[in-house]
Formats: sequence, structure tokens, C-alpha cells
Amino acid sequence: MPPFPADIETLRNRFHQHGQSHVFAHWNDLSPGQKAKLAEEAARIDLGELDRLVKSMVTSPDDAPPPFGELSPPGYIPLPRHGGSSEDWREARQRGEEALRAGKVAAFTVAGGQGTRLGFEGPKGSFPVTPVLGKCLFQVFAEKILVASQRYGKIIPWFIMTSPMNHQATTDFFDRHHFFGLSQNQVRFFPQGSMPAVDSKGHILMTAKDEIALSPDGHGGSLRALVRSGAIAEMEALGIDLISYFQVDNPMVRCIDPAFIGFHLLHDSEMTSKMVPKRSPDEKVGVFATLSGKLGVLEYSDLPPELATATDTDGQLLYRAGSIAIHLFSRDFAARAGGAETGTALPFHLAHKKVPHIGEDGMLVNPSEPNAHKFEMFVFDALPAAKNPILVETLREEEFSPVKNADGLDSPETCRADQLRLFAQWILRAGGKIPCDSSGIPEFPVEVSPFFGDDSDSFEKSWRDLPTPPRLEAGVVLGPQPFSAP
Ligand code: UD1
Repeated sequence: MPPFPADIETLRNRFHQHGQSHVFAHWNDLSPGQKAKLAEEAARIDLGELDRLVKSMVTSPDDAPPPFGELSPPGYIPLPRHGGSSEDWREARQRGEEALRAGKVAAFTVAGGQGTRLGFEGPKGSFPVTPVLGKCLFQVFAEKILVASQRYGKIIPWFIMTSPMNHQATTDFFDRHHFFGLSQNQVRFFPQGSMPAVDSKGHILMTAKDEIALSPDGHGGSLRALVRSGAIAEMEALGIDLISYFQVDNPMVRCIDPAFIGFHLLHDSEMTSKMVPKRSPDEKVGVFATLSGKLGVLEYSDLPPELATATDTDGQLLYRAGSIAIHLFSRDFAARAGGAETGTALPFHLAHKKVPHIGEDGMLVNPSEPNAHKFEMFVFDALPAAKNPILVETLREEEFSPVKNADGLDSPETCRADQLRLFAQWILRAGGKIPCDSSGIPEFPVEVSPFFGDDSDSFEKSWRDLPTPPRLEAGVVLGPQPFSAP
């Protein structure tokens, strides 16, 4: 509960002691409702943490440490078609299936981002993505999780991290769409933390007299939010040992992947990540690298160009292991990295952004240059602390086509094309016929429901079970459609 009105003096004093009394500069002009809102926002800020971050990163940053120590390309488990052992993949799959049948796995989606680049109003998960029905991202994940729950005979709980900015809109959206066929208590929502933006002196920026410039604390905030929200404790009570983590922006993800889970278990790993070979040196994905002996991720902006373009003796990029932000966490490790005992374990990164704010006179200033520092945690920073972290290869064309930008790369258009290509591939592999252009895109749009097939093998099985091959034409949807698209 907000501390207003009883504790408001204590709160204001606290802000005063930390040199942030301007947050309440217009207090006397505010209505009771505005006061309550501001007090509630202010009470959420950990001023001690903010002080430490401002000092070490903004006002007197430590002498820049070398960006990284000794750097080398990491090993990974390749797909059988790229030299991996089919026997190992089979064993991993079986092991993962056992864990699923034993009810040990939960799905976890981080959906707290602001989706600024896409320019879409509303939670990103409500964005329509499928090529015929226009199902939204949340519906696609819900159906895949439902299919996996049916396949393994165990309800797979789905934890969704929202942010304070989109929490209500997200839960309302699920309510309106009847949880897309999942039972309501299979889905848990919790908001991540937020951090205030500060100016170059470390002063908290205000977007209005009653509003602090807050933004979500990064997807790395998911680990501490799992702990603080009680989600970890709930998982423990449910007997969940493993957390299958993915971002809300990628509808092609295998939300539940038995081989991935199996490798994690067989290697006694605490955090396992998927990789795809980078398309080109300048592709904007983070790369996995061994940094001073520990597996980690370097953001694309941090990889020096000479390393980004370096090749090995086969002519392949040396640092090719692209991160597609799909990870598997052991629950105990997520609890540890989320700071259950030790406080925040992940470091914060600084972003320099343009943030509109009010000046001392209460008038809005729209900066033309970056004026604000924002603090964010990245979930992959947990990797170096994990025991036996491993990387497992996956195919980009099967598992990665995020919707990030309104147009161009990683846009709704590229994502639609990638889904169509994958559906056409499944049809062709199963022995069906569909005319495609030279890039593999079918000449007319079709869609495959996860209930019909969520990968090539399950698709082929359903296809074989059909009494007669279906007539494929524009707008055909293969599989039952129990829930209408929003
Ligand atoms: C991210 C990764 C990049 C990776 C790429 C794959 C970073 C810094 N980079 O890039 O290494 O190759 O994805 O697609 O993460 N989110 C929250 N809360 C937040 C911030 C983000 O839940 O506070 C969620 C978003 O809803 C989204 C995901 O995290 O699902 C990605 O965030 P975004 O900031 O868009 O990362 P990218 O720059 O796309």
C-alpha cells in the first residue's frame, strides 16, 4: 500500500536526505489523487540503490575497466545436421520429456518492455502476428503451452512478467480473451520493478508534477521479480524445478522444448541458452563469448568490429553464437541470481536516452539530445554465475523471428514471411504440395495451428492422420480453432 497520507513526511524526508527533494516540489499544487499517485511511485524507489548507481555510473564513474578480460569463442552443442550427435539429441529429448511428464517445468515470458520501436499502443503480447488469423503473440504462446500440457499429461504453469506500466492492461487482455483456453490458475502475472531516469547530476527526472520518469528495470529484473513476487516460492510449492524463459516478441519460439530441457539436465547445468549462427557480422544480436573463462553475452554494440568480423579456418564467423534470448533456468539458480539472499546479483547497464521532463517551473521540456540516464539489468548477465552453463544450437528459420521494429528488419512483415516459410516447409516435408517462390514463401497465405503441429514431426503426424490431404488455398488454416483470434 502507498504510504500516503500517514507516512508522507517520512517519505519526503527520505527523498530530502538523498538530495531528491525536488520530486515533491509541486506537492502543494496537487490534488489528493495526484498526491497519492506520486507517493505511491516514490515509495517504490530504492534510494540507497539509486545513490550507489548514480555515484558509480553517472556522477563519478569508476575508471573504465577494460571492457572484458580474455575473450574467446565458446563451444556449443551443434544440431545433428551441423555435426552434433543424433544419439545425444535423442537422449536429451527423452530426458526432457521425462521432466515434462513429471511436471517439473514452467514457462516464463518476459513481457514488461515498452515496445517503443514497434510503436504499438498496448501490451506487446496483444500484437497480432499470425499470417491468416492474426492471432496475437500471447495467443500463440498460450496454444503452444496448452499443446505441450496435453502432450505430456501435466499442466505447465505459465508465469508472465509485466511491468507496472502494462500490468493491468495485460491481465485485462487475458480476461477478455478467456485466457485463450488455458485455465485461469495456470497463468500467473507479476510486475517487474522500475527505475527512475536521472539527469547528469543524478537528479530524478519528473515527467509531470505528479509523475516520476520511471521505466522497467530491464529483462534482468525478471530474476529479482520472480523472487520478490513470490513466483519462485510458488514454483517450489508446485514442484517446478526448471523455468523455460522467452521474450514476448518472438512467436516462433518453442515455448517448451524437450531436447533443450534434456541437455540442461544431462549437463547438470544451472542456465542453458539457445544460440543461432549470426547472419552477418553486423546483425544486431548479442553474441555468446567466453570472458575470462566464464560464459557470457556481449551486446552487439560492445563487440569490437575486428572481432565481429573475424573468421575461423572454415571461414565461419569466430563469434557467431548469436543470442536469441531463450534460456532455461534451474529454479534454485534463478532464486540465487534474483538475489533471494544477497540482494541484487545482476549488474545494471546505463542507457543514455531522450526523456521529456518538467523543469523547475513545472513546464514540460522536450529535449533534442539525450538528457537522461536509465538503468537496466540484462538477464544474460546471470550466465557467468551459473554452474555448467551450456549453449545449444537451434535453427533460426524454425525458432527465431522477433517483432521489434515497425518496418524493415525484425518487423511484422519479416515475421509473417518467416512463419509462412516454416509452415510451407512442414507441408512439403510431410509430402503435401504448395507452390512457393524462390525464397520459400508460399504463393498464398496458410496457417498451421499449434493444435495441428508445433514442429515438423508433430505436423507430419497430424498430416498423415488426415483421411485425405486437404485442399490448400489462400486462407487455409490447418487444425482446430477452439478460440477465436482477438
Ligand atoms: C535483445 C537482447 C539481444 C538479443 C535480442 C534477441 C538485450 C539488451 N539484448 O535485444 O542480445 O540478441 O534480444 O531478440 O536484451 N523486456 C522486459 N522488461 C524490460 C525490458 C525488456 O520484459 O524492462 C522484455 C521485452 O518485453 C522483450 C525483451 O525483453 O520481450 C527484449 O527486450 P529489448 O529491450 O527489446 O531487447 P533487444 O534490444 O530487442
